[in-house]
Amino acid sequence: MKLKENPVILAIESSCDDTSAAVFESGKMLSNLIATQAIHEQYGGVVPEVASRAHQEHILPVVDTALKKAGKKLNDIDCVAVTAGPGLMGSLLVGVTFAKSLALCLDVPLIDVHHMEAHVLAHFIDDPQPKFPFLNLTVSGGHTQIVLVKDFFDMKVVGTTIDDAAGEAFDKSGKILGLGYPAGPLIDKHAALGVAKFSFPEPQIANLDFSFSGLKTSILYFLKEQQLANKDFINENLDDICASVQSRIISILIKKLTRAVRQYKVDEIGISGGVSANSGLRKAIMETGEKLNLRVHIPKFEYCTDNAAMIAMAAYYKYKAGLFADQALVPFTRS
Ligand code: KG4
Ligand code: ZN
Repeated sequence: MKLKENPVILAIESSCDDTSAAVFESGKMLSNLIATQAIHEQYGGVVPEVASRAHQEHILPVVDTALKKAGKKLNDIDCVAVTAGPGLMGSLLVGVTFAKSLALCLDVPLIDVHHMEAHVLAHFIDDPQPKFPFLNLTVSGGHTQIVLVKDFFDMKVVGTTIDDAAGEAFDKSGKILGLGYPAGPLIDKHAALGVAKFSFPEPQIANLDFSFSGLKTSILYFLKEQQLANKDFINENLDDICASVQSRIISILIKKLTRAVRQYKVDEIGISGGVSANSGLRKAIMETGEKLNLRVHIPKFEYCTDNAAMIAMAAYYKYKAGLFADQALVPFTRS
């Protein structure tokens, strides 16, 4: 197969509840369309069956709009990339089946992308790009990882959560507080107006791993106790409670990241994944960088939560390396 110097890559992401398509060419992200599925709000979490049906409805218009926005036609596509996993099987199947069919029809190569690797490679969409090796804190609704990134596809997870992910910690805390789903962005907003005056205990885990399930329980007990004296405690203190919860989640993340920096002696760090949209965490990681004299990388907001631009970016480096998939590609649910 003759590879192009500047291929037009169409990328598709459908691992959870966002249907996304992006077009990349000559070092530029020409479009990045994301259709979020608001329907899950009423259930307080992602319902897999509902998600895959919604992907089925969204995928064609999303791909179509992404191509139009990029000023490209189907025949311009040199390569189709897709998230192969990890994620929800029903959701992944929609994207993978679509991408396989399109690649077959257009007779162009297919590239499979690992969702977590793509969250890390989101740093390469815009300048300045990180230099290897660097440490990345990948924090989303499903994952919390400290990744030692030695090269584009040479990554080692050196710390992970032993229970809930950081995003889950935000979402579950929000649920206890009566906030909508996903609660992360709502806690972020309230926290900006409050003071972190309530102290929640920090889990004691020896290595670079995380634990967030205890936080949820301590919030629950704390609120129960406060509500015995004042049944309006949550309403009257919502901003301060959110600030306190957010501050504890951030301190847990930063403590382990700092420890990893000392252990692996890197000069650069990054954060990515949905939770990296959190304004408090963004500020904290900048401060950590200043304190430890590190270069800090944070993707643009639209490249933090699930998006196809990061899939296109990862696919570009796979294309350059000649790493292609074929029609036997099947999605996987776990890393
Ligand atoms: O990466 P992502 O879009 O999807 C997964 O792969 O999980 O991450 C979604 C997670 C949710 O838990 C959501 O509450 C959280 O990211 N999130 C935030 C913020 N924006 C999204 N958490 C805290 N603060 C935010 N601003
Ligand atoms: Zn994700």
